[in-house]
Amino acid sequence: MGSLDGKVALITGAGRGIGREEALFFAAEGARVVVNDPGVEPDGSGGDRGVAAAVAEEIVRAGGRAVADTGSVARWEDARQMVETAVEAFGDLHIVVNNAAVERNRALPKLAESDFDEVVGVKLKGTFAVSHWAARHWRERRAAGDRVDRAIVNTTSGSGLLNPLPAQTGYAAANAGVAAMTVVHALELRGWGVRVNAVSPSMVRTRLTRDVPGMPPAPADGAHDPLHPRAIAPVAAYLASPDCPFTGQVFSVRGTTVTRNQGWTAAERVTGDDAPWTVESLARALGALPRHDPFEALLTTLAAALGPAARDTLHRDIDALLT
Ligand SMILES: NC(=O)c1ccc[n+]([C@@H]2O[C@H](COP(=O)([O-])OP(=O)(O)OC[C@H]3O[C@@H](n4cnc5c(N)ncnc54)[C@H](O)[C@@H]3O)[C@@H](O)[C@H]2O)c1
Repeated sequence: MGSLDGKVALITGAGRGIGREEALFFAAEGARVVVNDPGVEPDGSGGDRGVAAAVAEEIVRAGGRAVADTGSVARWEDARQMVETAVEAFGDLHIVVNNAAVERNRALPKLAESDFDEVVGVKLKGTFAVSHWAARHWRERRAAGDRVDRAIVNTTSGSGLLNPLPAQTGYAAANAGVAAMTVVHALELRGWGVRVNAVSPSMVRTRLTRDVPGMPPAPADGAHDPLHPRAIAPVAAYLASPDCPFTGQVFSVRGTTVTRNQGWTAAERVTGDDAPWTVESLARALGALPRHDPFEALLTTLAAALGPAARDTLHRDIDALLT
């Protein structure tokens, strides 16, 4: 008996990397899966319709049930069609895993409008679009008396939450937006029995992290690889499973460590007397607070993850990005 027996799951970006492993894992746990992926390059260009089909075929060969969908989550009509495909193929939709993403890492002066639009279009608008059409379907089912447990699992990134990285304007902003959307949708859909959570993968070995400095090499054949993309799938499946009590949460996953995140929290405060603040009085009050330099915070994180050499290269890397 699988944890997702009888469920229908739509997984976006499921042709490769983390999404592919989620599709295989969800199917092994008993879900019928819509494998969505237009098979694009890491920057969103090109397309290969065979990528989604190959994963769906792999699931079917292993005795599971799956169909392929090659639409783009960034296109409104494609997102609607994905939900319809699930309903047509399997009679309903219970789980949405918003996983699709592209990256165009460029420093601010070099980042074109089209780069920003592509990255935010896939990750942020795509998450909204697919969740929107799923919610419309669930509203209809609810009105028809359906009380089945349903779930959305979004995918965000430390780049938008704990460690925004240089050259990731669109990617970091979109991922921070997905985390915010996770809470908004959890609040809105609670009354319909829909839970909404997010996974935040960290240092997973996919084509997106191939060139990340300090990424350890894959272990020899057959050895357990804690950074393999399949590390994320059980967490996504748990969040999607009917017994999961969580909603509105973001869980980071690095190897075998799963961490519940907490969003922006209020830190130090100053309160004025009855007179309005002036620039001078604010400068005195706020200027006395401790300083938190995001550059230092990033250095500390990189040094912890990648070793002390990261400290020496960060200044140089950022300068190189900007020239
Ligand atoms: N790899 C990591 O360490 C890491 C870290 C943090 C977050 N993430 C997140 O995990 C998710 C998966 O990333 P990955 O590393 O497996 O990358 P990946 O490039 O291997 O897989 C992403 C898949 O999304 C698909 N895709 C792109 N645009 C699409 C669109 N418009 N519609 C539908 N599908 C589309 C691609 O074709 C690709 O198969 C992303 O949301 C990414 O932001 C990954």
